[in-house]
Amino acid sequence: MKRLKVELGERSYPIVIGRDLLDRLPEELMARGITPKNKLFIITDHQVGPIYLERMESILQAADYQTGANVISAGEQSKSLHVLEEITGSALQAGLDRKSVFIALGGGVVGDLAGFCAATYMRGVPFVQVPTTLLAHDSSVGGKVAVNHPLGKNIIGAFHQPSLVLYDTETLKTLPPREIYAGFAEVLKHGLIWSESFTQWLEEHAEELLALQSPFIDEAIYQGCLIKSQVVSEDETEQGKRAILNLGHTFGHALESLSQYGGLIHGEAVALGMVAAALLAERIGVCPESEQVANRTIALLKKFHLPVRMDDQFTPEQVLEAMRHDKKGSGGKLVFVLPTRVGAVDIFHDVKETDVLEVLKMSKEVS
Ligand SMILES: NC(=O)c1ccc[n+]([C@@H]2O[C@H](COP(=O)([O-])OP(=O)(O)OC[C@H]3O[C@@H](n4cnc5c(N)ncnc54)[C@H](O)[C@@H]3O)[C@@H](O)[C@H]2O)c1
Ligand SMILES: [Zn+2]
Repeated sequence: MKRLKVELGERSYPIVIGRDLLDRLPEELMARGITPKNKLFIITDHQVGPIYLERMESILQAADYQTGANVISAGEQSKSLHVLEEITGSALQAGLDRKSVFIALGGGVVGDLAGFCAATYMRGVPFVQVPTTLLAHDSSVGGKVAVNHPLGKNIIGAFHQPSLVLYDTETLKTLPPREIYAGFAEVLKHGLIWSESFTQWLEEHAEELLALQSPFIDEAIYQGCLIKSQVVSEDETEQGKRAILNLGHTFGHALESLSQYGGLIHGEAVALGMVAAALLAERIGVCPESEQVANRTIALLKKFHLPVRMDDQFTPEQVLEAMRHDKKGSGGKLVFVLPTRVGAVDIFHDVKETDVLEVLKMSKEVS
């Protein structure tokens, strides 16, 4: 079992990672001051619920906790104001009060949605994350919670830190392979922005990691969370440095929104975005060993079965237009996080659109 603390002053919280941790949930809740006096409300989706909800409820009830639950449809479409209203309604009907605690049992969609429900329910109640996807190692750190607006992803949101993150790595074993690969995109991102040695370790242990072998998978989640938590601790509300976590996301969100949140899943879009970022760094000359960085990024993503070549479905102009719409642009200008070497990135505000278009063309030729 591994444990780390996200350092945010009085909003600090622990992340516990290991096998069969669901059984420890009551103990960990008690350690955070959440006792059977606090009603619990579990939010999960229709894929995760049938596998884990009953077990979670019986573990909690055996420890005298009162539980209610709401099962939403799986998928990004559930991150909506409409679903938020539904959950709020069933929480009210279940008699949840200001002392109640929401539990997110699922991937990043459930985490973001349940977190935002918790942030807004009666002006804010605590929440606990029990992530069941690999990608959710990313969303479980940092307290960004949100739902989507028809005009943009994560537009309606808040900063609301969880009280506890309990990561039972056994739950990853029921994930479809495509979701495992996509989850690794964010793990690889954490290596690429912060640590050459972690990146090298990922290159060396791809096989064990893809097989979700312990202790490798626990270590990868631990390091990913640790890197993210270090960045977040320095800049909780994204005034500056936290933006480095957006490596691959300026391109990625555009691709995701063009495919209507349906064609590409988040991690795949981020993978393509990280290739484009490496190529852009190379093109504008901000990375002394750029060729090596781009080649290594591409090889690493391929090892984890992630896409590296942009589809012909969209023209470079369409992608650029979608990027302009993304909220990551500041004052209408595009902001890019680009590698300066393997394990380090910087933020660039004055990249020319002609260079971006050229790189988008090149992204269709990557092999
Ligand atoms: N808040 C943040 O900082 C942050 C960071 C990164 C991503 N996100 C958000 O996370 C979301 C993506 O998260 P995700 O990739 O976890 O998607 P997800 O929650 O949609 O899960 C992916 C799919 O896997 C299924 N699933 C989940 N766990 C399973 C399990 N153990 N066994 C079988 N099936 C399982 C789900 O039902 C779903 O169909 C996006 O909305 C993204 O915006 C947020
Ligand atoms: Zn992401």
